[in-house]
Amino acid sequence: MGSDFFRKDWVKIRGVPIICACTPNWERIDNFQAREDDIVIATYPKSGTTWMSEIVDIILNDGDIEKSQRDAIFNKVPMLEFWVPGAVPPGSQVLDALPSPRVIKTHLPVSLFPKSLWEKKCKIIYVARNPKDVAVSFYHFDKMNQLHPEPGTWDNYIDKFIQGNMGFGPWGAHVKEFWALKQERNILYMFYEDMLEDPKREIKKVMKFLGKDFSNDVLEKICLQTSFKAMKENPKTNYSAISSSIMDQSVSPFMRKGICGDWKNHFTVSQSEKFDEYYQKEISKTDLSFRFLV
Ligand code: A3P
Repeated sequence: MGSDFFRKDWVKIRGVPIICACTPNWERIDNFQAREDDIVIATYPKSGTTWMSEIVDIILNDGDIEKSQRDAIFNKVPMLEFWVPGAVPPGSQVLDALPSPRVIKTHLPVSLFPKSLWEKKCKIIYVARNPKDVAVSFYHFDKMNQLHPEPGTWDNYIDKFIQGNMGFGPWGAHVKEFWALKQERNILYMFYEDMLEDPKREIKKVMKFLGKDFSNDVLEKICLQTSFKAMKENPKTNYSAISSSIMDQSVSPFMRKGICGDWKNHFTVSQSEKFDEYYQKEISKTDLSFRFLV
């Protein structure tokens, strides 16, 4: 059934390219009913969503690893907009049935965010990552994920990224719009590169935002459990439970490299220069900046 949606092009919802399978009955997203204690993990794809999801779930379970391993990450933290009609139920429906406090994953840009999430003043954790590593990670993900269109050649892919012709729209608008809202809304804005540099320091920020305070031992345990190595080996977090007909991890594993700077292995000098120009244009008028090496 799900195969009806394999390798279909993105479908635009109010101008934003979205995974084709997820686009029917979009009212389910617009009308989604938030709860005051919902915690939202919002990201542009491939920016560390799964990593942050696991961190938040363990924090909400007060560092109890056994409890946090009750289910796969995509069931504990459902993706709001996800749906494969006939194969996977809508994330919005799965969330409706979950007890509070819910942790909601979404890649929706500000323009498609359900109104109710703002009205209920839900806590939002936004994770951003430098766009060169995002492009590399997204390219490999598009290659292995049958619900996405074929990515084509790497050289063309860079152009598509620059044009914003990507799933969930342009990277620049996504990171900038949440950045601009972070003061007036309840948003903790995090960077993937900071998390890599000092996971303990960054996890502490998340704990504080969620109103938790743990001993150093618990913090160390959370760091260990959410390290790249642990999450890559953990069947609850490495997406190995998803059928290989949808995500073919022999093409590229979901937990691929987990580093900053893999872009250096993919961009030629001229591709990198073109991309730098795009990046400068995108962020020059903001006080937002990204690290391309840690
Ligand atoms: P790479 O493809 O560069 O390896 P998302 O969860 O938003 O889809 O992001 C996926 C990216 O985050 C992948 O990047 C993945 O390897 C990386 N990632 C997942 N868990 C991680 C962890 N614990 N530490 C570092 N990177 C992690």
